[in-house]
Amino acid sequence: MSSPQLHSDGRLRHLLTLEGMDAAMLRGLLDAAESLRPQAMSGLSQRNVLAGRTVCTLFFEPSTRTRSSFQLAAKRLGADTLNFNVATSSSSKGETAMDTMRNLEAMGVDCFVVRHAENGAVAALAAGAGAATRFINAGDGRSNHPTQGLLDMLSLRQRKGGDFSRLKILIAGDVKHSRVARSDLHALRALGAGEIRVCGPASLLPDDGTLRDCTVTQDFDAALDGVDAVMMLRLQRERMEEGLVPSLERYFRDYGLTPERLRRAKSDAIVMHPGPMNRGVEISDAVADGPQSVILDQVSNGVAVRMAVMQALLAG
Ligand code: CP
Repeated sequence: MSSPQLHSDGRLRHLLTLEGMDAAMLRGLLDAAESLRPQAMSGLSQRNVLAGRTVCTLFFEPSTRTRSSFQLAAKRLGADTLNFNVATSSSSKGETAMDTMRNLEAMGVDCFVVRHAENGAVAALAAGAGAATRFINAGDGRSNHPTQGLLDMLSLRQRKGGDFSRLKILIAGDVKHSRVARSDLHALRALGAGEIRVCGPASLLPDDGTLRDCTVTQDFDAALDGVDAVMMLRLQRERMEEGLVPSLERYFRDYGLTPERLRRAKSDAIVMHPGPMNRGVEISDAVADGPQSVILDQVSNGVAVRMAVMQALLAG
C-alpha cells in the first residue's frame, strides 16, 4: 500500500505517523537509536553524518523536550540548524504555515521538524513542499507524536527486553486528547504487546476506535494490577474549563499515581511520562522522582531516537 511517508521502495521519506509502520521498520529505527546513544549524549564522532544539511524546527506550539532534543540531535549529526521562532515571525502578521514553510525551504532547509495544533497539518505541509524536502512530525493536534512513540518503545525495550508479547502495559490519564497515547498504541500493537490496558475517566477516553483491542477501564487500582509498565499522560488542564474533570484534587484522588497505588503493579514495573508533568495532579512527586521512574531516561532516549530518524531520512 502506498504511503506519503514512504519512498516507492519502502524506505522512510518523511516521519508523519507510526500508524501502519511494521515491526521491522520500528525495530530498525530503535536499533539505530540504541547504537547512537553514546553519541547522543556527547562526542564528535557523528558530526559528519549530516554535514551540509539544514534542519529547521518549526513549532507553532510550545515545547521543551521535543524542540531541544531535535536541535541537539541535528547538531550532533553535524547539520546546520534553524530554530524558527513563531512568536517573533511574520506568522503574527497572518502569514500562513504553508507560506512560512515555502519561504524557509527557499533558503535551503532540507528537513522541517514541525509541531502544529491541527490534526494533519504536518502531512499537509509535506504535500506542499518540494520532492527533496523531508518532514518530521513533532506533534499534530491530538493525532500523532511519532518520535515520542519511538523513544517510549526504546525506553520500554531497554528495561523490559525486546519480547513485548510478555508485557502488560497500562496507559493512564487523558487519553482522549493525547497524541502521545495514539503513537504509543500504534507502536505497541505493531511490536506485539501482550496486553494493552487503558484507564481514565469516561470523559477523557476516546470513543472513536482508538482503543480497539485494548482492555479499557475507569478503575485505576484494578488497571494497575500486575502491569510491567505504567505510561502516565499529562492532564491537559484546559480540560478543566471544558468541564471534563470536576477538580484537580478529585482527579488526583481517582487517577493520580502514588507509591501506594504503584504497589499494585509488578514490583519491577517502570513508570513513564512524556512530560511536561503536572505533579500532584496525575503523578505524585514520590513516584515521579522514585526508583521505578524512567522519565529522564525517556528524555535522554529522545536525542538518540531523533538522531536515528534524521539519519534515516537525510543521510546518504
Ligand atoms: N513530550 C513532549 O512532547 O514534551 P514537549 O511538549 O516539552 O516537547
